Amino acid sequence: MELGLRDKRVLITGGSKGIGRQTALTMVQEGAEVALVARTLATLESARQWIRDVVPDARVTVISADLTGEAAAQRAVDEAIRAMGGVDILVNCAGAAPGRLLEEIDDETWAVALGLKFLGYVRMVKAVMPHFVERGGGVIVNVIGNDGVKPSFWELTGTAANAAGLAAMQALADQYGRYGIRIVSVNPGPVDTGRWDTLTEAYARDMNLSVQEADRLAKSSIAFGRIATPQEVADVVTFLASDRARFVHGTSLTIDGNQRKALMDVWQRPNHS
Ligand SMILES: NC(=O)c1ccc[n+]([C@@H]2O[C@H](COP(=O)([O-])OP(=O)(O)OC[C@H]3O[C@@H](n4cnc5c(N)ncnc54)[C@H](OP(=O)(O)O)[C@@H]3O)[C@@H](O)[C@H]2O)c1
Repeated sequence: MELGLRDKRVLITGGSKGIGRQTALTMVQEGAEVALVARTLATLESARQWIRDVVPDARVTVISADLTGEAAAQRAVDEAIRAMGGVDILVNCAGAAPGRLLEEIDDETWAVALGLKFLGYVRMVKAVMPHFVERGGGVIVNVIGNDGVKPSFWELTGTAANAAGLAAMQALADQYGRYGIRIVSVNPGPVDTGRWDTLTEAYARDMNLSVQEADRLAKSSIAFGRIATPQEVADVVTFLASDRARFVHGTSLTIDGNQRKALMDVWQRPNHS
């Protein structure tokens, strides 16, 4: 299926690693030009080389910015517009929310979680919107997370940030659809990236499990007996960003192999003390 992404200009936050980097490669393989945003320049350079190892003539701009600040988000968008001559698609994928149980989450931790995973996405949407309105259209795909639709107490900050993100994006879809701007979100469950290693460690700590047991439980909560690959998420993001999904708007798609989170809740076991 031809996706029609040739020469589209795609701005991808969190593009130096994991799902964002895989999405960048997949977009490039479809003929798109990409601009990658993350904090660490060295990792961004490695990601550019990783993409060019597969597609030697890939057009890749790298932009170092910390998206916990509004001015930095605006600068990232402005640099991407300057480098590529415009932006057609924004993929929001730079996020992380610290794990921990309610009793251990103080205001500062909440602020960190909401500051990047929720506000970081909103900041990027706000920064790119005037450009999309002016050019008469654009597409935004948010990589959010299944905690927003399948809440879990051991991922409380992510649960809250993701639910807030999904609601905000749905509301913004109402506001901006009339300008030809399409907004969709995806909700991955566990995905095999560096981020997943951190999440497993947090889950193991909070549930008093070994990391191996935590990893096994996570896999057994998915009928396929494994977690997703970054490519499995990148493929859906790429399709949703394309014109082939032109009537998909204001909604979200969960990519988690029908994960049943209750199977990870060891507190529900009869012998739990
Ligand atoms: N992996 C999973 O199991 C999973 C599941 C559900 C949802 N998700 C969501 O999917 C998205 C991508 O996850 P991933 O697993 O691909 O993550 P990852 O491999 O840890 O990559 C995170 C990316 O975000 C960048 N980043 C982090 N903090 C940033 C900041 N303050 N400003 C700008 N860039 C920043 C990182 O680069 P720098 O560190 O250099 O800035 C990196 O490029 C996240 O929103 C995550 O919550 C992941």
